[in-house]
Amino acid sequence: MIGVIGLGYVGLPLVKTFLNKGFRVTGFDIDRKKVLMLNRGKSYIRHISADELKTFLKNKKFRATADFRNLRYMDAIIICVPTPLDSHKNPDLCFVLKTTETIARYLRKGQLVVLESTTYPGTTEEGMLPILESGGWRAGHDFYLAYSPERENPGDKSYTTEKIPKVIGGYSKRCLRLARTLYDQIVVRTILVSSPKVAEATKLLENIFRSVNIAMVNEMKMIFERMGIDIWEVIEAASTKPFGFMPFHPGPGYGGHCIPVDPFYLTWKAKEVDRPTKFIELAGEINTFMPYYIVSKTVEALNERGKSLRGARVLVLGIAYKKDIDDQRESPSLKIISLLSKQGARVSYNDPYVPQSSGHREYPGLKLKSVALSPKRLKEADAVIIATDHSVYDYKKIVRDASLIIDTRNVIKKKSPHIIKA
Ligand SMILES: NC(=O)c1ccc[n+]([C@@H]2O[C@H](COP(=O)([O-])OP(=O)(O)OC[C@H]3O[C@@H](n4cnc5c(N)ncnc54)[C@H](O)[C@@H]3O)[C@@H](O)[C@H]2O)c1
Repeated sequence: MIGVIGLGYVGLPLVKTFLNKGFRVTGFDIDRKKVLMLNRGKSYIRHISADELKTFLKNKKFRATADFRNLRYMDAIIICVPTPLDSHKNPDLCFVLKTTETIARYLRKGQLVVLESTTYPGTTEEGMLPILESGGWRAGHDFYLAYSPERENPGDKSYTTEKIPKVIGGYSKRCLRLARTLYDQIVVRTILVSSPKVAEATKLLENIFRSVNIAMVNEMKMIFERMGIDIWEVIEAASTKPFGFMPFHPGPGYGGHCIPVDPFYLTWKAKEVDRPTKFIELAGEINTFMPYYIVSKTVEALNERGKSLRGARVLVLGIAYKKDIDDQRESPSLKIISLLSKQGARVSYNDPYVPQSSGHREYPGLKLKSVALSPKRLKEADAVIIATDHSVYDYKKIVRDASLIIDTRNVIKKKSPHIIKA
């Protein structure tokens, strides 16, 4: 019996992977609406279909619940709850710690507890362990504890959960062996490391690697733009080097629950050991600046056409943070829309996967519905910003109908004065 706590972008694909391998799974979530939907066979995440869910429910292999007393029936409990930042960009571990307290209340001898949420090194042993041992039982003897980072890549059809190798760090050798036995049933390969701390740090290295490289190409884009050099052409040429180069692509900023968030978990923790994280913070600064850059390029382009941003009709294409997914968390499009609106533009957006956008903590005033992408709408817009390069967009039609395009993803290959790469 597998219990997965937190039925979101990470938890649900994991549930599906265990179910596909024949396990019985109970999904736990505090969000009763999600629990209700799942038990009715309705999915709220694109890559899990309602049909799949219904089959699992019919076979009595799966159920969702908000009743955490059921945790005592689980053999393994896997935690996939959010690890966000607070308003001062400090780690907010309340979800992980609250969940741990709940698990401690219902802990049964022999259970394996694994944290998958991304976090700073030390969370499992310094944060979770004392809570789990508060009842007198000892990890490695009475129950087992491990950390294994999730490496979900939303929208990636070739690397689904079972195809991604999994790094595991156990609190003790027995904890590690048990966690390995579990994950060996569902993923292609397990990689064992010496401690939960090393596994936690591995995940941060992976994500900070992306953040720093994305920042670097974004910085180079802005430099090259002034020199009249197309960064995309440069990247394509550099990618022909058979060793020592890996292409990263510029864009309107970065988004999602991971790359903009996780580096700051390390920044915070590094203060404990008196080490600055200048490099990591600089990458954050550059990436955070990108939506401002896109807006300034839009203002410039409108200005060249004798128009001001105030009163201009701007259509933003794509509000999800990356192509072909429905996740708008931390999306740079939200920042772009908010900056444009503040300066008096009349902003609308289209996103085939996000019918409405509201309820964002950072942008309380942002309440929009996706508009239909008609030729009339494209023609009426003073500027169209391609913020997310969804595959379903018909870029030929967009080029034909829009009078000014700000292309942040290099999807329009055609060169024309009305197409601005930004
Ligand atoms: N989304 C990704 O692509 C991705 C990739 C790798 C790692 N991660 C990491 O995985 C973790 C989860 O991310 P996500 O994107 O799945 O988040 P999510 O917001 O999609 O899902 C989290 C779920 O946990 C539930 N929840 C919150 N507190 C809870 C509690 N106390 N008990 C039970 N359920 C609770 C929420 O209701 C929600 O359904 C984060 O640490 C994230 O950094 C995410």
